Amino acid sequence: MKRILLFLITVVGLVNSSMGQAATTPASSIGNDPMTSFYIVVGFLFVVVILVLLVALYMLQVLNYMVKQATKERSERLGIAYKEEPSFWSNLWNKSNDFIPLEKEKDIMLDHNYDGIRELDNHLPPWWTGLFYGTIVFAVLYLVFYHVSDTLPSQLQEYETQVAQAEDQARKLKASNPVAIIDETNVAIVTDANALADGKTTFLSNCASCHRKDGGGDIGPNLTDDYWKHGGSIQDIFRVVRHGVQGTNMIAWEGFISPDKMQNVSNYILTLKGSNPENAKKPEGDLYVPKETPSDSTKVQASL
Ligand code: HEC
Repeated sequence: MKRILLFLITVVGLVNSSMGQAATTPASSIGNDPMTSFYIVVGFLFVVVILVLLVALYMLQVLNYMVKQATKERSERLGIAYKEEPSFWSNLWNKSNDFIPLEKEKDIMLDHNYDGIRELDNHLPPWWTGLFYGTIVFAVLYLVFYHVSDTLPSQLQEYETQVAQAEDQARKLKASNPVAIIDETNVAIVTDANALADGKTTFLSNCASCHRKDGGGDIGPNLTDDYWKHGGSIQDIFRVVRHGVQGTNMIAWEGFISPDKMQNVSNYILTLKGSNPENAKKPEGDLYVPKETPSDSTKVQASL
């Protein structure tokens, strides 16, 4: 009994937490969302209701047992043979299956005979037909509610509301914390000395092992020349730093380095251009010629 209880609590907890999370992406807004506390309360009520039901069921079981014992004793005292009544569950089982007892099988035997193999004319178990009619009723209700009266949102509508909600959340997040949403579409050219110094620190501690301290290249390509495998604009560099290059040693740094630090290190890389360090690696990739518009990043995206 205790183990069942523990199991139920865990299941309810898991279901509840996953529902809570689905409703509260992105992660940083968990706790701000009024739905989260709603789910917690509903989950809690659910657990309490299940516990009460289980206790009630257990009490009923005990009561049943005591009544049975008492009846048994009484019939023994009165000298009547005690015959146990079928329980509610066995009644339900028999009703929902409607088995024909073995003795009555000959009544439903069909008269054909295939080399001794004969066939019974059993009808479908009532639980099955019930379920079947249930699906028809469900389909009709579904059609009415989702497609005719439009009372309930269709999957597409649900998807659209969720997207709208997410966009709304993203807008709020953007407004409250502009640093968190630097990406390759809005990464900026930074010339501020502090930012570049910060970029250098990041470069020396995270990138120098592969690109060398001076950016001359080792495992990773030379970052000081005009040749780039993935484009040399700030957007291109930021994108490679953020997402990495799959299948190479260049990992995605998103999650390890904050977006503003990725912006700083990308800008620091730009300052290395033309520094011509000694014994630098041979140029790799294509000659990158800066254009007026940053739209060349789209061309490179295709080659990624
Ligand atoms: C474990 C080795 C390794 C580390 C550490 C590493 N890189 Fe790289 N990086 C590479 C390799 C290898 C490539 C070439 C990928 C390819 O072949 O496309 C690369 C490519 C790049 C490119 C694109 C170069 C081009 O020619 O287009 C940039 C920019 C870059 N890395 C920046 C960084 C930055 C910034 C860091 C630190 C945050 C870093 N890398 C850390 C191995 C590394």
